[in-house]
Amino acid sequence: MEEYIVDNGLSGGADNPDMISLAELKKADLDGMVILLSSDQESVYSQLRCQLLEIVSREQIVDVFSPSMYFDGNVYRDQKIYEDIRYATLDCAAREIYCNGVEGHVAECGVYKGAFSRAINMLLPDRKLYLFDTFEGFDERDNIDSDSGTFSSYDFSDTTVDMVLDEIGRHADIVVRKGYFPETAKGLEEERFALVSLDTDLYQPILAGLEFFWPRMNPGGVIFVHDFGGLDGVRKAVVEFCQREHVGYVRIPDSCHTVILSKPL
Ligand SMILES: C[S@@+](CC[C@H](N)C(=O)[O-])C[C@H]1O[C@@H](n2cnc3c(N)ncnc32)[C@H](O)[C@@H]1O
Repeated sequence: MEEYIVDNGLSGGADNPDMISLAELKKADLDGMVILLSSDQESVYSQLRCQLLEIVSREQIVDVFSPSMYFDGNVYRDQKIYEDIRYATLDCAAREIYCNGVEGHVAECGVYKGAFSRAINMLLPDRKLYLFDTFEGFDERDNIDSDSGTFSSYDFSDTTVDMVLDEIGRHADIVVRKGYFPETAKGLEEERFALVSLDTDLYQPILAGLEFFWPRMNPGGVIFVHDFGGLDGVRKAVVEFCQREHVGYVRIPDSCHTVILSKPL
C-alpha cells in the first residue's frame, strides 16, 4: 500500500522528505485512493478541498474533521458569529446535506457584503456558489416603499463584487450574477441546488426567489429565508408561496426570525 503526505503549499515541507506537492500527487495512481483531509485553518481547508476535487472524486475524500469544524473552533468564536442561531442552523443544515448525500450548488440571493455567503462557502466548500445581487442596493421595480414605510431608508449600495470576493476568498468556485433578480437567473433553469439563502428583504424578489429555486432544489435541499419575522413583505411572500405550493416552513428564533423550507428527501 502506498501512502503520501500531501501539502498544497509544502509548508514545512523542506524538513520532511516524505511530503509531496499536489502536483506530484497527480502523477500517482489515484484510482481507489482515499484522501484524509485535514487542516486547522479554514481557508487552507477549503482551498485544499477544491484543489483535490479537480483530481479525485468527492467520495475519495474523507473529512478527518467535520466539514463544519470551524464553527466549533476559534475562527468564528472570535467574531461571536456562532452565537447567532441563524449561523448555527446553517451549520446543521450543511451537516445534513453531507450526511444525506444531497448534491447540487449553493446560492445566496441578496448578498450585500457577503457575510452569510462566506459562511455558506465555508460550510459547503466543495459546492459551486452562485451570488445574486444588484451590488447597488434595492431596485425601484420592487415597490420598496409599499413593503415598509421606512424601508427605503436602508441603503445596501456600499458594496462591490470585488469586496465580496475578497470576503469569501478568491479560491472558491463562485459565479456572480450581478443585476436585478429574477432577470439574473436566466440561463440557469437546468441547474440544481442543495442550499439557498434568500435575503433580499422585499416581497417581489423573495417570491421570485422561491418560485425560481424551489423547483430546482434537490431532495433534502433547504432554502433559508431571512427576515420572515421582521419584514411584512417577506412574510407575505413566504406564506403566499407555501400555501399555493403546499410547502411547509419552520421559523427559527434568530434575531430576524428566518424560516426554513425543506425539500422532502
Ligand atoms: C439585507 S441585504 C443582504 C445581507 C446579506 N445576506 C448578509 O447576510 O450579509 C439585502 C440585499 O438584497 C439585494 N437585493 C434586493 N432586491 C434585489 C433584487 N431584486 N435583485 C438583486 N438584488 C437585490 C440588495 O442589493 C442587498 O444587497
